[in-house]
Amino acid sequence: MLKRLNHIAIAVPNLEQATSFYRDILGAQVSKAADLPEHGVTTVFVNLDNTKIELLFPLGEKSPIAGFLAKNPTGGIHHFCIEVDDIFQAHSYLKEKGIRPLTEPKPGAHGINVIFLHPKDCLGCLVELEESSSNNIE
Ligand code: CO
Repeated sequence: MLKRLNHIAIAVPNLEQATSFYRDILGAQVSKAADLPEHGVTTVFVNLDNTKIELLFPLGEKSPIAGFLAKNPTGGIHHFCIEVDDIFQAHSYLKEKGIRPLTEPKPGAHGINVIFLHPKDCLGCLVELEESSSNNIE
């Protein structure tokens, strides 16, 4: 069921500074900042040869990132994202197996459908699944 690692997401307390760290010090190619109001985050993607790093900054009052940053003020790894062939099939299969999706499939970054799985059902990690697409590495 699992395909490629799509990205690792890091919650950051300062998006400008985090972007500058990857772009100006480490020399990585980074995307423009994009607001995802549905997910309560602003994201910047750092493009690596074989995967991406997603920098996450809180957006709006109910951002899921705000609580994380309150507990981890310097930021930290928030989730990782693995591609699957069919997000709706993965969603219903995992529910059958007692793994709790936190949402119905809905568009994430790049407009591709994603789900998040409950960390208590995934060895303490917040896992995102994203439908695989050939244009994921841009
Ligand atoms: Co993500």
